[in-house]
This record gives sequence, C-alpha cells and structure tokens, in this order.
Amino acid sequence: MGARRKFVREPRGPVKTDLSRRKEAGEPIVGLAPEGHYPGPMTPGSTPAHFIRLEDQSDRELEDILDLSARLKRGVTRMDLAGRTVGLLFFRGSLRTRASLEAAIHQLGGNTLHLTAASDFWTLEAREGTVMDGKAPEHIRDAAAVLSRYVTALAIRPALTGAPWEVERRDESIRAWAAHAEVPVINMESALWHPLQGLADLLTLRETLGDLAGKRVAITWTTSPTPASPSVVHSFLMTALRSGAHVRVAHPPGFELDSGVLEQARDSAAKRGVEFETGLELGEAVPGAHVVYARSWQSLETYDQPTLAANKLAAARGWTIDEPLMARGENARLMHPMPVRRNLEVTDEVLDGPRSLLYTQAENRLHTQKGLLSLLLRG
Ligand code: CP
Repeated sequence: MGARRKFVREPRGPVKTDLSRRKEAGEPIVGLAPEGHYPGPMTPGSTPAHFIRLEDQSDRELEDILDLSARLKRGVTRMDLAGRTVGLLFFRGSLRTRASLEAAIHQLGGNTLHLTAASDFWTLEAREGTVMDGKAPEHIRDAAAVLSRYVTALAIRPALTGAPWEVERRDESIRAWAAHAEVPVINMESALWHPLQGLADLLTLRETLGDLAGKRVAITWTTSPTPASPSVVHSFLMTALRSGAHVRVAHPPGFELDSGVLEQARDSAAKRGVEFETGLELGEAVPGAHVVYARSWQSLETYDQPTLAANKLAAARGWTIDEPLMARGENARLMHPMPVRRNLEVTDEVLDGPRSLLYTQAENRLHTQKGLLSLLLRG
C-alpha cells in the first residue's frame, strides 16, 4: 500500500485579500473590472465582482490566489463552497475547463449546475434594445437575472460568433452576462481572454522557474487545421510580461495577435523594463528561452473569411516544435494549453519527454480554480 496523502485542514477564518479588505472598509471595488467594459466601479453589496481577465486583478489579489492555490495543491482542504451551487454554461465544447472546474467546485464542498447550449437551453440574444424577431427566444439579460436566483456564481464559455475580429474582440456575450448577472461571472474563455488558463500557466511557470524576473519566454505559433482564437496566448503574454519575463513571439506573416493586446503588452514591457518582440521566425524566438509556449491561433486578418483563412493556413505549414528546436533553448521546457495535435503542433518525442509541462499545466487548472473560487466566492 502506498503512503497515505496527508491532508491539512485550514481554519475557516477569512483570508484577507485586497478585495475582502476593500469590502470590509466599504471602499468601491474596481479591481475586477476593466476600464469601462464591465460593471464598475462597484459598490459592495450591489454589483458582484467578476473574473473576466487577469489584468483586472491587482498584484496582491493575484498573489493571494496563487498562494492559496499552492497550499491547496499541497493537500490543504477547504469547504468554502459548502451548500452552494455554481452554474457552468458552455456555448462551446471543453474537456479541461469543464472537468477541472466541476472537480474544483465539488472538492470545495459545492455543487454544479451544468448547462450546455443547444441541448439544455436555447439560443440567447446579447444585443441590447433589439427587436427579438430572430432565432433567439430569450435575452441574456433575462437568463442572467433568473439564473442568478439559483446559483452563487455563473461560469460562462461564450460562443465565438465568427463575426469580423473587430466585432468578435469586443467580447459582447461575456460582457452582457457580467452586466446583467446578480452574482459573480467567471470567464471560461472568451474570444480575447482565457484567464483561468492564465492562472494555471502562471502557477506552472513559477513552480518551474521560480522568480520569473529576467527569465526568457518564447511563444510560438504552431501548425493546426483547427486553430483557436488567440485568447490563451493573450492571457499568457500579459501574465508573463507582468511577472518580469522577457517575451518573444513567433508566428507566420498575417498571424499577428490582437492589436489592442499588443499595445497593452508593449506598455507593460516598457513599464517593467523587459524585452518584448513579436513577428519573429520560429528559429529566432526559441534560442535561449527557458520556456517555449506553443499554440495555434487563427489569423485575425481573415477571421470571418473561411476561404482566405484556409489559404493563409496552407501557406503556413511546418511550424512544428521538435527536439532539435527545443534543444536551442536554455534547458527549455514546453508549455501548451491543450488540446494538442501530436506530430503536427509538437512531436511525440517532446510531448512525452522530460521537457513537457502539459500535464502539470492541466493539473494546475484544478488547484488555481479552487484558489480563485475560494477567494472570489467565500461569504
Ligand atoms: N485549455 C483548455 O481550456 O482546454 P478545454 O478547451 O478542453 O477546456
């Protein structure tokens, strides 16, 4: 019989985050809402604090979440969600986000209400003031208000609309949920951001490299017939820069990241005195890197034009991470949010070898979401 895992039960006393301190002091809560896009400033007791993007967390809030996540990973147990229900609404498929969030909620003593669009409910309208004579029989405003009467929080993975990127990047659906819900809304990946993945990635980086100041991170585009939105890369990029790492981004021509995010990234890098380069070739980004973050993302230039997008993808073959490339890093480790296409995005040799951090990243989804939920939702 293997050694028993030792569990430590934490006292139930309140964990003091910036948020809880501000609530106690009766101060407006602005830290969780981006500038003008989501409800804010918020007054305690009126508008809930949402988790839409990591940039809305103060450094202190982020530290509190990560510290608690690390303790939970070491075996501390907490029952902050005992007797409470979290609604999980998926408008797109998921493996890790659904499984890790459900497990996290159950392990904190809570339970889940799981709803999948198309099978469990109908199309919802997000536009304000529109005449609802289309296919959506219900408005997000009403769905959000009703579900808020049943649950402690709503976690949403909105659909991607396929509209031009200038429209998609507004994240209108998650914003509508945040505007109308009477409970905290958690973004389970919108077009622009994947903050839950970002939290897990940050914990993984810290566990692997320790202090990230001055470490070198390469973000590389990879070949895939089904590239994702750049949400994961946006969240990772901003988190790495904020942590003081130097970041290089490699991608084929026409696969630039969102221009607004790039502007924020340049500002962040300048503020912290770290290097940030983008538009590099694969072979330019990886040399000297401590971590290589691989991900395929769509061309935003042809986001709503499938034929042009297919042509662009066809012209961008050969972006595969293999051992000779990884060997050019500084004892480089590989990160990827998954799902990963084996031997197309990354070779088996790298995925199954000692460089891979993929399963640790996936595991850390569980621990960091428990840390987040404990702090965001405790009474
Ligand atoms: N990384 C991630 O979010 O995985 P899923 O899409 O499977 O949830």
